[in-house]
Amino acid sequence: MRPLVIASANGHEFTNGGRETCVERAFALMVSGTDPIQALVEGVTIVELDPGDTSVGFGSLPNADGIVELDACCMDASRRRAGGVAALQGVATAAAVAARVLEDTSHHLLAGAGAQAFARACGFPIVDDLNSERSRALWMEWKRRLAAHEATAGMSRIEAGYAIGLDMSLEGLLDANHLWGTIHCSALTPRGALAAVTTTSGLAWKLPGRVGDSSILGAGLYARAEAGAAGSTGRGESNLFGLSSFFIVEAMRRGAHPKDAAIDALRHIVADTTAPALLNGRRQPNFNVKFYAMNARGDHASAALYGGDDVRYAVCTENGAELRLCDALLDGPML
Ligand code: GLY
Repeated sequence: MRPLVIASANGHEFTNGGRETCVERAFALMVSGTDPIQALVEGVTIVELDPGDTSVGFGSLPNADGIVELDACCMDASRRRAGGVAALQGVATAAAVAARVLEDTSHHLLAGAGAQAFARACGFPIVDDLNSERSRALWMEWKRRLAAHEATAGMSRIEAGYAIGLDMSLEGLLDANHLWGTIHCSALTPRGALAAVTTTSGLAWKLPGRVGDSSILGAGLYARAEAGAAGSTGRGESNLFGLSSFFIVEAMRRGAHPKDAAIDALRHIVADTTAPALLNGRRQPNFNVKFYAMNARGDHASAALYGGDDVRYAVCTENGAELRLCDALLDGPML
């Protein structure tokens, strides 16, 4: 079997001051015999610790109260094991905590204070604040705009908060992808084993306690032996509604190519998106969702609602790592 690691684009964009990206680290560890979950976690940890990515780990965009809350999950198809954490505060390396849930417990998901207590018991240092100067400044700007907005507009606070985030991304204050930014990374080992990891700070300025797709099996990731692995980045609620990663893996089990399975999942998201606050002027979703999928033979693809030259995914094989274009379902700009 030709080993393979795929990830969202941030898996080959950030190095946290080191020499390797996530997919390079994960691939190198995996082919040298490291357990695939451990290899993937070490890879995504690079991005979680890099403050340049404001969508995961340290320096990611906090909740509405200014507190960074992280969701992460790992799934090992060969061992039929999984572990996740949701709404975890105080530990930047949420994927590593999720891996301890997988390894050390028979549970699949720990949340909130319980997840943090588990991390502390495992020896993870708990810090008071995971904001960087940048993530705190962006949150304060969002708060300032929300206060001004509430005085004038008839929108609900949630709709207004979301609209302000879109405005801030249109003005270039933040990458629109980081509104729900996430890193997903999955692997096919030389022995044909499949594993997947997803980690995120979730929706920027979310209601405290909001959990998206990333920590939920079947939504933010899924991996089953002899079928494939899939994961997502983008608006988590859309994946939760359709359990898209499960949908994609089961389609691949029935023989669908990863690209066709991912495009079909995106079609369901478009059909399910009817709330006016989630539609752009062309009545299409005003958010992006991207899927990353590989089957058990090593065919792979990534598909997004909206594509473009800068909408790519990371691939690492024995020939090295590169960014490749994602396929897209919809034409035109997202906003
Ligand atoms: N996909 C990340 C989230 O929506 O939480």
